[in-house]
Amino acid sequence: MENLLQPFTLNDKITLKNKVLMAPLTRCMADDDLVPTQSMADYYARRAETGLIITEATIIRPDGQGYPNTPGIFNEKQIKGWKVVTDAVHQRGGKIFLQLWHTGRVAHPYFFDGDFVLGASAIGIEGTVPRVRELKYTVPKAASLQEIEQLIQDYRQAAANARIAGFDGVEIHGANGYLLDQFLHYSSNVREDEYGQTPENMTRFPLAVVDAVSHEIGAERCGLRLSPGAYFNMEKDPRDRQVFDYLLSELDKRTLAYLHVGIFDDAMTFDYLGGSVSAYMREHSRQTLVGVGGYSAESGSTAIANQQFDLLAIGRPLIANPDYVERVRTGQSLVEYSDVMLATLV
Ligand SMILES: Cc1cc2nc3c(=O)[nH]c(=O)nc-3n(C[C@H](O)[C@H](O)[C@H](O)COP(=O)(O)O)c2cc1C
Repeated sequence: MENLLQPFTLNDKITLKNKVLMAPLTRCMADDDLVPTQSMADYYARRAETGLIITEATIIRPDGQGYPNTPGIFNEKQIKGWKVVTDAVHQRGGKIFLQLWHTGRVAHPYFFDGDFVLGASAIGIEGTVPRVRELKYTVPKAASLQEIEQLIQDYRQAAANARIAGFDGVEIHGANGYLLDQFLHYSSNVREDEYGQTPENMTRFPLAVVDAVSHEIGAERCGLRLSPGAYFNMEKDPRDRQVFDYLLSELDKRTLAYLHVGIFDDAMTFDYLGGSVSAYMREHSRQTLVGVGGYSAESGSTAIANQQFDLLAIGRPLIANPDYVERVRTGQSLVEYSDVMLATLV
């Protein structure tokens, strides 16, 4: 597992002290103004031994909220709250990126006292908001051209705010069925304007967000998470393959900090991708690739040695083991993760 503990140069601005990244993990523990708390700063600081912390998904504006007490990055109080977190991580020698989030149709008007939520098209998802079971998902309003323009600006502003808050960079959340991903799949995007119907159109908004954020803070500080395989809040459609082929080839004209696989279990395979999501992304992209999803230090190290990806993100085991990297380094056994652990920030 030596290779996991070696430094990795992302680019001329950022070098990571090892290849173990903390995967973004929503914890729903911000205060009622969606401001990060001291407990969150302590929680992240305990994990500063990882090569890079990617924070829990953080909403770029009020109508992006789909879960209770998820933090924001759209006002002064939130920026100040995050500054406490980034200072704590930096003091321990860590690096930290903020994951930028808008849940799109997975949002709920209840959280922001609104009349509707925005999506790519007026196609809702079934079910209720986790943790607030009485809230049924609503049918979104298809974002207008003006609303899309505003969203691009809001992603850009959120990235600027992240830098003011002391983050080393951001990861744009383009995965897991949330707003950007809703434009990238045929089951959620039936638009008939320049944002729908063809791979070129369906990738237009996500690419505009990548470009706006890169322009604001530098592409070398901008990562992107993608889910070419629909597995969460999204129905599969084999035509999605062409959208992601096109998206990855367009992204190759840019050099981002990294691309991150958006999946819970990388052993999952998708017929239309010809295998796992990580294998598909590796084959179709030249960017630095972060693998994730059900890996142990052993299996992740082997995958890196086999060049399946370059960096390994660890999610649930890092909830159970704040000192994960130290345990790997010294060969100690790990505490097993259980969902019960989500109740407290340790
Ligand atoms: C409690 C929990 C919260 C999560 N929150 C996020 C999130 O905010 N953003 C995101 O992109 N993925 C999120 N994920 C997915 C993880 O980043 C990761 O892909 C997944 O846990 C698989 O990695 P693991 O097997 O190492 O846990 C979450 C997963 C869990 C278990």
